[in-house]
Amino acid sequence: MHFGVDYYPEHWDEGRWYEDLKLMKELRFNTVRVAEFAWCRLEPKPDEYDFSWLDRFLKAAEAEGFKVMLGVPARNIPAWLSASDPETAIQAYEGHRESFGTRYTTCLNNSYLRDRALRLAERMAQHYKASEVIHSWHLDNELGDASPCYCPACRKQFIGWLKDKYKSCSALNEAWGLVFWSLEISDWDQIWLPTRTNHFAHNPSLLLDYRRFTSRVTEAFAQEQAGIIRENCPGAIITTNLQSTTRFHTDYYKLSESLDFVSTNYYPPESYNTIDLDRLRSLKKGPFWVVEQKSAAPDRKVREGSRLQTSYGFLVPQPGETRLNTYQSISRGADMVLYFRMRPCLFGQEQFHGGILNYDGGTGRIFDEIKKTGLEIEKIRSYIDGTKVESQVALLYSYDSRWAMESYPPGIEMDYRTVFLDYHREFERLHVATDIVSPESDLSDYSLVVAPLLYVMNPGIVENLVSYAEAGGVLLLTARSGLKDENGNIIPDILPPALSELCGISIVEGFPLRPEQKAGIIEEGGDEYEVSRWIELLNPKKGCTVRARYKDSWYAGQAAVTEMRSGEGLACFIGSVPESRFIRNELKRLLKFADINVPMNAPADVYISVRNGNGRNIVFCLNPNSTMRKISLPPGTVMKDLIQGVKIQGELELAPLDVALLIPE
Ligand code: GAL
Repeated sequence: MHFGVDYYPEHWDEGRWYEDLKLMKELRFNTVRVAEFAWCRLEPKPDEYDFSWLDRFLKAAEAEGFKVMLGVPARNIPAWLSASDPETAIQAYEGHRESFGTRYTTCLNNSYLRDRALRLAERMAQHYKASEVIHSWHLDNELGDASPCYCPACRKQFIGWLKDKYKSCSALNEAWGLVFWSLEISDWDQIWLPTRTNHFAHNPSLLLDYRRFTSRVTEAFAQEQAGIIRENCPGAIITTNLQSTTRFHTDYYKLSESLDFVSTNYYPPESYNTIDLDRLRSLKKGPFWVVEQKSAAPDRKVREGSRLQTSYGFLVPQPGETRLNTYQSISRGADMVLYFRMRPCLFGQEQFHGGILNYDGGTGRIFDEIKKTGLEIEKIRSYIDGTKVESQVALLYSYDSRWAMESYPPGIEMDYRTVFLDYHREFERLHVATDIVSPESDLSDYSLVVAPLLYVMNPGIVENLVSYAEAGGVLLLTARSGLKDENGNIIPDILPPALSELCGISIVEGFPLRPEQKAGIIEEGGDEYEVSRWIELLNPKKGCTVRARYKDSWYAGQAAVTEMRSGEGLACFIGSVPESRFIRNELKRLLKFADINVPMNAPADVYISVRNGNGRNIVFCLNPNSTMRKISLPPGTVMKDLIQGVKIQGELELAPLDVALLIPE
């Protein structure tokens, strides 16, 4: 377990470093992340590198026994670099170049910027290759998070990417359906980018491919930057911080191929959620790192027109919440937790962002809480090391589906993330761990696979799902599954024929409801539930069981939810967007069918997660509520709470915002 903090030595007088390092020790930290935004100090003038200040900080950190995660800046460039080539700036959707003066305004297709960034990485790797204090290397910060760029360099690269993919203009015309509104091209130079136009939409296939292309630019840059570090510093461990599911700029399945470890930020509840931890863990099916754990209230100013606004409305953590969220990260598989940040900064764009220390560098409530957590982690570390979260359930998360839905939504309020969270949340309330994996991945280890809104499918995905279910898996699909092919065009059957056969249905018709409109479904046994947003009328074929039918309107009596046995497996289809109660009951039923047990009988509003290894399970019980919760232990079991060191039998009483880590006694 690595436990530590993000520190910005360039923000503070050198004399203060030593005091801060002492305070970090008091918190039981062992790891510090530095330098991801420090380019202007690392290369103050072109080719004049100055690592001396960083060397001194690393020496001081090493002397106190710390390990360092070294940030390698790339997109937050110094002013001299921006001034020497104005085309380093992103060309926005509206056509203007983004101005220098904040972060993430640079285009990775600008060759000057790329060269300079890669040269910096090379110099840093050469300089620090023998350093023993460096634990790992952190590529830039939140790679890919920027407005999409539409500059001439991007257009040129995009054309190259399209040529590679489609080979001929006629193949591209066909794939994108450019005959619609007379958009066919006869020469690659006629390619346009999906920038601001009038109020009509751009071609959906172009929009989807442009998303893929911009993701590819980030993936390729990470690969190159990581390659240079590895070449100069053999054995370097490389990571970077991936963002929450509120962001979808980059295909993290592909980006993570360049990384040894995946890392994330974790700022719950506003912009991060437990799904983000589950998704991170699933990327490499193993431990991940949280390199920015929320310690205090974040602050972010964003522009709305000409006014500066505070974004998100982040909340200050109540006493106990920072500790609880730290255990949340660990319980989901994190083997490193670094808090953001040690001390609030007195200047710059995040002045109102809290930290572990107070503005004056003194200690207070947050410091005390993290110190308590640090002491606990010291105590439990040996139990946790070597354990990991295992899951029998997979949720399929598809970038193509997300991108296609975000750029060209099928219906009002059919939001990919919202529907995805609907399913993830209900598994969580049932205390069942979920992996979040690509629809193209090997599913054979999972007993239950749920694919919410898997809107875009290619033949490989269809085949993957069919063979999974036929081999005995339990598969749940929802409305709008496989509606689009990989070009973003609608398939004539609405549901891919092989899935239609697997599920034993065809789709008669699909249509949106008005935003506030609800419809009803009735289960066989008479239980009624609400559905909203989208209706698909299912036509069951021979052998298919109708589990629920629509209740009202002109489509009353038509099938809404079905299931079909296929060998040992089961293929279920939900033709609408049901209320959470229905999803929960349905998942319960499928868990039972798939023979998946829940680890603990606990109220739905507590978090239960299990880490296995070293011959035992550690059950993490977290109570995020403002009142006490009781958790029943399986009859006859005696467990020990690793934090309190006490035996528990019968019922565990968890105080508000408290945590227990149980192992069999
Ligand atoms: C993160 C970012 C940090 C800092 C933080 C503030 O998204 O990586 O640099 O801005 O947010 O909450």
